[in-house]
Amino acid sequence: MPSSATPAILTPETLSNPWPVYRQLQEDDPVHWSEELQAWLVTRHEDVTGCFRDPRLSANRTQLFAEHQLGGLGPELVKDYLRVAEGMMLMKDGTEHTRLRRQANTGFTSQLLDGWRPTIQRIIDSLLDRVQERRRMDVATELSEPLPALVMTELFDIPAEDHERFQRWSNDTANFFGAAVGDVRSAALRANEGSAQLSRYLTAAIEARRERPGEDLLSLLLRYEEQGRMSTEELVSNAVLILTAGHVTTIDQLSNGVYELLTHPEQLEQLKRQPELCKAAVEELLRYTPAVPFMHRVVAEDLELRGRTLRKGQLVFLGIAAANRDPNVFADPGRFDITRQNNKYVSFAFGPHLCLGAGLARRELELALRTLVCRMPDLRLDEQRPPRLKCNSLLFRGFDSLPVRW
Ligand code: HEM
Repeated sequence: MPSSATPAILTPETLSNPWPVYRQLQEDDPVHWSEELQAWLVTRHEDVTGCFRDPRLSANRTQLFAEHQLGGLGPELVKDYLRVAEGMMLMKDGTEHTRLRRQANTGFTSQLLDGWRPTIQRIIDSLLDRVQERRRMDVATELSEPLPALVMTELFDIPAEDHERFQRWSNDTANFFGAAVGDVRSAALRANEGSAQLSRYLTAAIEARRERPGEDLLSLLLRYEEQGRMSTEELVSNAVLILTAGHVTTIDQLSNGVYELLTHPEQLEQLKRQPELCKAAVEELLRYTPAVPFMHRVVAEDLELRGRTLRKGQLVFLGIAAANRDPNVFADPGRFDITRQNNKYVSFAFGPHLCLGAGLARRELELALRTLVCRMPDLRLDEQRPPRLKCNSLLFRGFDSLPVRW
């Protein structure tokens, strides 16, 4: 299919309803060169999972992606952003990645995560207590945003009142990483400031733990640094990564999930009748409406894919959301079905960089949805205040505002 026949990807129309475009690409040109993005778009499930595992596609993308985003503006605009991102496991390949990942894994075992359930539940209850009598709320700003950020303050043992600050810094940093749409210069400056602030904030928290270690995640990672398994810079970078990745994605996933349930009343009714379906409902929400519709890689070595040559140095966007609706893998992929079995979605990626926090995110989503449907059985969209989708990035998809009543 010639590129000119491809609908634009970064328009508000496509960002808000991308499914027809993804389907068209998947069918007609599954490995597509986008003139608009100056990058490849890969949309079939088999190819997306294959690319996530292919060592010829590198996760070491910070510098190239920043230059790609900035055009002629120059990478010095994002000096601090690059410095912090450089040490993140997310940007590493091979043994360097394994070394950093192995240590972080020990903070995310199923046993530890199950131990977090009461804390997550307490936070959800306290957020809903604030609005219960009001009989209306904005899910995006009053539940989705504070919940994962407050969970992260507990995980890192940092003051809960700081969550709004690091939420702002994280959003700004993630927005640039996520292929910001619109004023790129201002997005770059905000990302740089966000990274500098996050790194300063976490460096201070780490130094405090050096004096008085505890049982939190920072203290755990600090032990590895003191054993010489990671440098101080790597410790700070990965603390920034976990803090940021730990909430920006979950925020969007929770709002997306609530929206789909409220716009599929028969599924919502079934969930109310059978709350034990909550786990499966979360899996289906992750498939149907992923918070991260694309993830990027850089071609490290020329490779052939479906007859197209991907050249060293080119950027590739792996279509997670498109793969999640590939009819070769999912029966009736456009149907939202909370009883779906054998759900092989790729919303947490695939291969070595499979999301470190998937288990935590699943627990947060499950407890939040279960509590919402139990405590607010008449939950519905607020007909007087329409929801507002976020359309400011290619890699992250969620809501700025999601007003509901009950
Ligand atoms: C619904 C919520 C979430 C979604 C959709 C999500 C999605 C993803 C995706 C797609 C990746 C792969 C990135 C790549 O391949 O380049 C990833 C990696 C990662 N995620 Fe998540 N994530 C979520 C929640 C979390 C949480 C709660 C945490 C931490 C507390 C977290 C921490 C990480 C980290 C550290 C990585 C990098 C792993 C590595 O490079 O080995 N994520 N996530």
